Amino acid sequence: MNSFSRQSENNKNRREFLRNGMVAAGAATLGTGLLASGAPVLAEQEKESSGKLSRGDAAILRFLAAAEILETDLWVQYNELGGVQDNEVPGGSGSPLYTSALQVLDGDMNQYIHDNTEDEFTHETFINAYLASKGADTVDLEPFRTLPGSTASGASGKPRLTNLMKLTVDTSWWTRYRSRTQNPDFGDTFPQAVPSLAVGQHPAIPRSDADLSPSNHLQAIANTAGFHFATIEQGGTSLYPSLAQRVSSSEVLQIVLSIGGTEAMHFQTWHDKAGNAPPLTDPSDSTLVFPDLNAPPFGGEDFQTNLIMPEPTIFLSKSLPRCSIIRPTNTTGAATGALNFLTAMGLFIGQSPAFFAFLRDLAEEADAARREGER
Ligand SMILES: [Fe+2]
Ligand SMILES: [Fe+2]
Repeated sequence: MNSFSRQSENNKNRREFLRNGMVAAGAATLGTGLLASGAPVLAEQEKESSGKLSRGDAAILRFLAAAEILETDLWVQYNELGGVQDNEVPGGSGSPLYTSALQVLDGDMNQYIHDNTEDEFTHETFINAYLASKGADTVDLEPFRTLPGSTASGASGKPRLTNLMKLTVDTSWWTRYRSRTQNPDFGDTFPQAVPSLAVGQHPAIPRSDADLSPSNHLQAIANTAGFHFATIEQGGTSLYPSLAQRVSSSEVLQIVLSIGGTEAMHFQTWHDKAGNAPPLTDPSDSTLVFPDLNAPPFGGEDFQTNLIMPEPTIFLSKSLPRCSIIRPTNTTGAATGALNFLTAMGLFIGQSPAFFAFLRDLAEEADAARREGER
């Protein structure tokens, strides 16, 4: 099957899944209006459109829109409990104890959480609005908003797309950005900063008010969040430049480069704050240990907490000089890789098969995109 017909098949499958998702999961949230007029809406979806955009550019932007919707959803959950709730980022009323535990990492954590959340809202809204302005189909994940969130005081209680209560957090970005000799694009792998976060399932928000004590348990939850913030944002920092290499229009390239840069700004901030997470063992889970990253067996160039700027490393060819760069930025399979990364961290635990199928098809279509002239 050639790539075009495979893509067409994917589009068809994705629409099937979306339709099933809507019927299975979306009836309550979509309301009877859509169901009543369901036939024309679904008929319209049969002709998924790239509008004035190339097919590849539309696919890349649709995957990014989905990623941003998911990012927004997780950041909203953090903001409701640990950020600043205001008219820029409404929802929730804050958990004073969780907010205080986050502020152990930095007194401004609640403001940074608020601002990161607002940024994600604007990424999601802008990309979908841009797609619509070009006559291309947009992305809507609302039918999949079915997960129960935290019941802790301060949470809004609304259904979620993502799950922050069973996370497996890969913290290998910590040593990846400190390495001067290795690069994941060369197949290299990197040790974890917090090995026990990379196994098991850990809450990054209080699941209920029972998680608000003892204080070191709540601090372990806040520490988990502190590392998770950077894990998420380093992913976005790599995703945008990885996909940019296959964009065709200069305007879409401008969008991808301009949004991608803000993901790097988020990552840089969170990288700095994660290093302030106090060393401790979770009294409610003795397997969860936050080590002192500045002391043996940690410490040194690979772990020292103030080394938050990327160290120069190998790039493109080992015969070229080392360079301070975002890593990885390999474009092959970048969207599928990002989806697998988010799935492996437990962010979608509880989601339906239709959700995974829908996201997988969006990712595969983005990864099938080729720069015009390089087809
Ligand atoms: Fe974003
Ligand atoms: Fe982000």
